[in-house]
Amino acid sequence: MKSLKLYPGGASPDAEKKFTTMATFITAKAEGSWLIDVDGYRYIDFSSGWASNNVGNVHPEVYDAVVEALSRFGFVYNHLLALELAEKLVEITPPNLTRVSYEVSGTEAAEASVSYALTHTKRPLIISFIGQFHGDSIGARNIGSETAERKSYFEAMHGGVIFAPYPRNYRIPLNMTEEEYAELCLWYIEDNILKYIAEPSRIAGVLFEPMMAEGGNVIPPKSFVEGLRKMADKYGWVLINDEVLTGFGRTGRMWGIEHYGIKVDILVTAKGLTGGLIPIGAVVGSEEIMGPTKAYSGSTFAGNPAGCAAALKTIEIMYRDKLMDRAAKLGEEALKVMKDWIPEYDIIADARGVGFLLGFEVDSGQGERVDEELARRIFVEATKFGVRAVWDEETTVRLYPPLTIEEDVLFQGLERMEMAIKKVNNEFKQSGL
Ligand SMILES: Cc1ncc(COP(=O)(O)O)c(C=O)c1O
Repeated sequence: MKSLKLYPGGASPDAEKKFTTMATFITAKAEGSWLIDVDGYRYIDFSSGWASNNVGNVHPEVYDAVVEALSRFGFVYNHLLALELAEKLVEITPPNLTRVSYEVSGTEAAEASVSYALTHTKRPLIISFIGQFHGDSIGARNIGSETAERKSYFEAMHGGVIFAPYPRNYRIPLNMTEEEYAELCLWYIEDNILKYIAEPSRIAGVLFEPMMAEGGNVIPPKSFVEGLRKMADKYGWVLINDEVLTGFGRTGRMWGIEHYGIKVDILVTAKGLTGGLIPIGAVVGSEEIMGPTKAYSGSTFAGNPAGCAAALKTIEIMYRDKLMDRAAKLGEEALKVMKDWIPEYDIIADARGVGFLLGFEVDSGQGERVDEELARRIFVEATKFGVRAVWDEETTVRLYPPLTIEEDVLFQGLERMEMAIKKVNNEFKQSGL
């Protein structure tokens, strides 16, 4: 394979020109908290397979469980492990959620959750939020709204989904506080959607992320989630909680929703569910909604044996090793370090997070296009300094370390990230973009 030689000390003279997009990073091996590239350079992993490998890359116990399941079952339908995992998922999700169905991915699981809500209520509409991401299939793009660009050519397929604004932590208009803006978001549903767009009795449910991850790690105030629950109760809506990214310990609790103490009717999970080793997703819902249902969901490899084995082992490890507590504690310490970057570097405007759902916001004062480019540069420079984060055409750079990351590696990663920020900040101050 062609050498990229990106790590400081080994970069080729024109590596800079070659290395401008995410696609140019090629992992040759992943282990624990590290990614190793084709030249053997080691990168601290702040991406965790896009927030999937929460127990670290290729956890040996999960790996063994997968191999055992493959040798025992290969692939079959209706196997024992699916039942075992269903029981386990019911045990570790909120008490009112008692039914499980499987999918292959988060995308399918998010779509299926909506299908359950529509079928249960026999109503045609769903409220979703601007900025949310639920996947890239046509169905998932319809129920999400990450960017207008992502909807290109599919705009006309938008039937059935009404979008409301989601609270913001930064770039809040009209000098509103976070709480005021969150109140406005709820008000918009009551006073605009329900008056002018659709009667409450035509709406089946509300699909929300407890923290909007792909939309920039936005953490809404408790009042927002409480408001959604109140409306759902008032109008008979199904409250659907998409935990594909926030779940499995990412926020320092098993589920993001635990931070609010609010009851939901359906919980959607994938990504970290299997320690990132074998893709499956799951929908966990109340008896009333998912018990006697005529909703169709699932696909051939949904809940496959290797995925279920991986999930069972991942769950065991997470509780046994108290990984949620670990992420909560270390995440808080990491956030303190990140907050120090705000007064230090002109272009860093906010740092926020809960557990290991961490990120910082770039604001140059010259508009979001410039900020996106600066965020991209920080992400690229950070890779060159040996730490791999997450960036997806946004003004935030997101840090999703594995929950198992060693303490010294975590802080070393933050130091490397700061070196990248410093470099981009200085370059921008000296010569602009
Ligand atoms: C909240 C949320 N839902 C759904 C998905 C789609 O999951 P998958 O990529 O496993 O299909 C994602 C992916 O990032 C997500 O963040």
